[in-house]
Amino acid sequence: MSNLFVWYYLTFIYSFVALNHLMLLLKTINHYKEWYQNLEDKNSIGFVPTMGALHKGHYSLIEKSVNENKVTIVSIFVNPTQFNNPIDLKNYPSCLERDLDFLRSSGTTAIFAPSVSEMYPNGTENLLNIDLLHIDKVMEGKFRPGHFNGVVTVVNNLFEIVKPNNAYFGEKDFQQYMVIKRLCELKFPKINIIPSETIREDDGLAFSSRNALLKNETRIKAKLLFNTLQNAADLFKKMSADELNKWVEKTINSVDGFHFEYFEIFDEQNLLPLSNSTKQARAFIAVYVDGIRLIDNFKFKP
Ligand code: PAF
Repeated sequence: MSNLFVWYYLTFIYSFVALNHLMLLLKTINHYKEWYQNLEDKNSIGFVPTMGALHKGHYSLIEKSVNENKVTIVSIFVNPTQFNNPIDLKNYPSCLERDLDFLRSSGTTAIFAPSVSEMYPNGTENLLNIDLLHIDKVMEGKFRPGHFNGVVTVVNNLFEIVKPNNAYFGEKDFQQYMVIKRLCELKFPKINIIPSETIREDDGLAFSSRNALLKNETRIKAKLLFNTLQNAADLFKKMSADELNKWVEKTINSVDGFHFEYFEIFDEQNLLPLSNSTKQARAFIAVYVDGIRLIDNFKFKP
């Protein structure tokens, strides 16, 4: 009886330690470099960059990376330089302990969670400027000036540190995915940028870290964002671009607490206006829902 107890006890202790040892938490660039140097196979590193407050959307990217690579690195870093609004940065959800719990059974090999001074040792003033063509002139680029400078700077630095072979990005931030593809075209031609479909709640709302900021009654209304996008894609053939834009703006602004920011339809290959060669279109929307800014997009055949 007592032997059995000792056996159970040792099994419990062993699995607890192993569980905690299977996933490393690396907080400095030097720790990451040390770990990387000892890695035998450097040709199968999957990378999922995040700003934490992890949800099912992140989980699906991590799952994909775990299935396609020998090791998966998840970074958690709330990047100050991509917030054009200081209040938005201050309110951004941050919960490292909860995120670590969330990742424990995900198959993640290591989490890279550096501090701001680690990522920006010379301050946050000098950002990377690369030619993003027209991609950052529309939508998020237009309404959040400097946002993509911050994104390319941090992703560039993360890529240089992590040295991934494959990096995974959600289509919920489709414009960001296009920006990162352009960054790789110019600076990291060997990294494969792999997009993953938007994961949605049962009522259609796209998973986003910002959803955690929605109060209950606001959360219920937020599904109208995706409904409007779907309806707009249906109305696309029946209305002119101008009429459709006005319809979306009116529909959104008629909901109490909603404030329309933009609605656009672009060719998803290049984020240019649709043309005869467009095979796949995407409708994009940004709306303030009781002060919380949400974005979404929807793919459709033109
Ligand atoms: O999509 C995000 O969470 C961020 O923009 C990213 C890519 C991690 C860069 O900070």
